Amino acid sequence: MNFQLTEEHLAVQEAAREFAQTELLPGVIERDEHQKFPAEQIKKMGELGFLGMMVDPKYGGGGMDTISYVLAMEEISKIDASASVVMSVNNSLVCWGLEKYGSEEQKQKYLTRLATGEIIGAFCLSEPEAGSDATSQRTTAIDMGDHYLLNGTKNWITNGSTASVYLVIAQTDVAKGHRGINALIVERGMPGFEIGPKENKLGIRGSDTHSLMFTDVKVPKENRIGEDGFGFKFAMSTLSGGRIGIASQALGIASGAYELAVKYSKERKAFGVEIAKHQAIQFKLADMATNIEAARLLCLQAAYDKDTHADYGKSGAMAKLFASKVAMDTTIEAVQVHGGYGFVKEYHVERLMRDAKITQIYEGTSEIQKIVISRELLK
Ligand code: CAA
Ligand code: FAD
Repeated sequence: MNFQLTEEHLAVQEAAREFAQTELLPGVIERDEHQKFPAEQIKKMGELGFLGMMVDPKYGGGGMDTISYVLAMEEISKIDASASVVMSVNNSLVCWGLEKYGSEEQKQKYLTRLATGEIIGAFCLSEPEAGSDATSQRTTAIDMGDHYLLNGTKNWITNGSTASVYLVIAQTDVAKGHRGINALIVERGMPGFEIGPKENKLGIRGSDTHSLMFTDVKVPKENRIGEDGFGFKFAMSTLSGGRIGIASQALGIASGAYELAVKYSKERKAFGVEIAKHQAIQFKLADMATNIEAARLLCLQAAYDKDTHADYGKSGAMAKLFASKVAMDTTIEAVQVHGGYGFVKEYHVERLMRDAKITQIYEGTSEIQKIVISRELLK
């Protein structure tokens, strides 16, 4: 097995690191405090190619591999996890789903603009009464011949008020269970489509999370992705790759907190020496570094599986399960290393600790990742 990153990988990693330091770091505390969406920064990310990294260049993307995507996600997430969730949703849920399963017309009409970041997209599966149990959704898309009539509510939608294109999963034939579900492309501004108020969140506060309400929205038939009844498999298949993105987000949050803890431990003095000289602090750093390295290897393994067309459902779920726990554990310890200073906003680690929690919840909770992994093991 070759663990060596290529020149291209290193260049992408460096470009993402540079962008995060120069464009995302300034103002990140204020954006978090005021729940301000990083609109200008996301625009620049699009211009630099971070929003359609893996999309074929013929549709405006970067044509890169998943390993490059993991490396860039880690660097962006070290500094601003609110920006990286926008990046993750646009790349691995919206662009990937459309490129893999969309028609040529849909790719020309939507993917070309999503891949360049001219517009951003949202992925709408969860509902007030259906999160983990995704097949029990109540949003309906009734077949009216040349269009679907969409009714219902989607919850917790990332990019809820900033997206232009929404991939909405809805029930067409309840009697058919998961085989009666469709995925539809809904455009912002379609009559009957309303956006609810912004959620006031613990973490990733700069990201834009809303519920969406659909009342008799007419969605043209040509906006259905794939065959009739393919919507649930579309969602599951897309989420398998999405989980690699969120695993890398968790990895970045953890490594960002670790880097801050190392720096601080060499500066802060207690009992006449830098706190890094106390073995209790050294052991915390050793645990953090070991866990982060293991999480990184799992992320890269899942990315490699995807790039080599091997099955990546299990490895992606393992990466997300493990990296999200590492993000939580590492950020808690990074706050501890900072003592009281870790508890205030200026030192960044409290934000990283709040941001870490979501990685154990969205794109399938940790319990759901264990279901996905164990089903694969016992197949
Ligand atoms: N790829 C393709 N098809 C898949 C699949 C995959 N990865 N996983 C399952 N399927 C297929 C199955 O083969 C099955 O089809 P057949 O009957 O034809 O074989 C069908 O889907 C139903 O599968 P299950 O019987 O396994 O379904 P289930 O009801 O037991 O649910 C589950 C399985 C894994 C728990 C699933 O419901 C799940 O993943 N829940 C979590 C939902 C989730 O992750 N939501 C995230 C929302 S997006 C988000 O959160 C974005 C963000 O924050 C930024
Ligand atoms: P529930 O499913 O009600 O789960 C509650 C608890 O029960 C959890 O601990 C869960 O693990 C556990 N549980 C449930 N079933 C089982 C079981 N079978 N075995 C063991 N334990 C179980 N969704 C989208 O579609 N698009 C988005 O863009 C999006 N962005 C989000 C952004 C944010 C900030 C948040 C908070 C959520 C977002 N979500 C999005 C929704 C997210 O995917 C769901 O919150 C998540 O899937 C969990 O669903 P739930 O909240 O309904 O929890």
